Amino acid sequence: MKLAVPKETAPGETRVAATPESVKKLKSLGLDVAVETGAGAAARIADADYVAVGASIAPDARSVLADADIVLKVRGPNAAECALLKKGAVVAAMLAPHTEKAAIAILAGQGATAFAMEFLPRISRAQSMDVLSSQSNLAGYKAVIDAAATFGRAMPMMMTAAGTIAPARVLVMGVGVAGLQAIATAKRLGAIVSATDVRPATKEQVESLGGTFVAVMDEEFKNAQTAGGYAKEMSAEYQAKQAALIAETIKKQDIIITTALIPGRKAPVLVSEEMIKTMKPGSVIVDLAAEAGGNTPLTKPGEVTEVHGVIIMGYSNLPGRLAVDASSLYSRNLFNFISLLVDKKTGAMAIDWNDEIVKGALVAKDGEVTNPAVKS
Ligand code: NAI
Repeated sequence: MKLAVPKETAPGETRVAATPESVKKLKSLGLDVAVETGAGAAARIADADYVAVGASIAPDARSVLADADIVLKVRGPNAAECALLKKGAVVAAMLAPHTEKAAIAILAGQGATAFAMEFLPRISRAQSMDVLSSQSNLAGYKAVIDAAATFGRAMPMMMTAAGTIAPARVLVMGVGVAGLQAIATAKRLGAIVSATDVRPATKEQVESLGGTFVAVMDEEFKNAQTAGGYAKEMSAEYQAKQAALIAETIKKQDIIITTALIPGRKAPVLVSEEMIKTMKPGSVIVDLAAEAGGNTPLTKPGEVTEVHGVIIMGYSNLPGRLAVDASSLYSRNLFNFISLLVDKKTGAMAIDWNDEIVKGALVAKDGEVTNPAVKS
């Protein structure tokens, strides 16, 4: 069977879906691997590195995709790439299933068997395939590094002959995978860190990392988590109470990292314009929810702006700013997923359609969009 790794076409996408390490492992499954020329360039992987582990290099999208049984991508294929897919080809990528419904319909129309990696169930057997975790972890780290690099003051307390420098105060809003890594990174840099989330389980996690937890802990808060571990949308009343508490906290912060997301919904606004006005000049907000509408109303997706003296970073692809590590982790996630679909003895496709990982991630098959959440 042929497995193809096309060059990413989305603007600014620096990651690649396979590295020499993952190609080696894919080949050990009995797959022939073809990589489009330049696919790894932005992640510092040369064509020759792929050739060294036995991949072939294709000159363009058409030739890499021709006859491919499996296609690995970072972002979903665009319409032109879809048109080049063989009927029944397995496509695994971050298809953005909540927002890119039309693109998934095109994939279905092409007869592809499409897997949205974001839809993997968060069960322990799928942890090694969990692209949301591998990429969010890096995003949380990079958010703090970006903020520290832009902030005109130091992060740790410094006692010098010329006097003492106060440590920076960092607030992390949303304590999922990205938020936890942001807390850990800010602590390592010596900042005073506090954090907030609507899921009660996060209080202990924040405290175990040395942060202070800030939230209105009422009855609604105690039940604010779905069975899948995600946040629920909070009532207007809770949001108002929480906003009042957060407003007081924000005044004292130097850096805010916002990561609050609700799958399939617009991101909640947690930092209002009024709150931003109360921040000290030169403070920094990194909004990891920028692509989902932003946790501040002033975030401009993909841009760094300064409003009321506060720098707001709305980078839309933070993992892509660490393309080498992001590709390395993502490609391992994909390898672990693909090895679930392929018979390791014969190298033939052997998909167990009843496997909950397969069922969870499948969004298109036999010409149909299979997941109700993706049907438009
Ligand atoms: P996410 O990216 O969906 O959201 C980020 C954070 O924002 C979450 O912690 C969420 O509770 C928070 N949030 C949402 N609305 C908010 C609001 N109004 N105010 C404050 N915070 C708000 O979350 P992520 O990183 O995907 O993690 C979700 C859950 O999945 C976590 O419980 C995590 O531990 C769990 N998980 C489980 C895995 C497994 O394999 N068992 C793997 C990875 C994560």
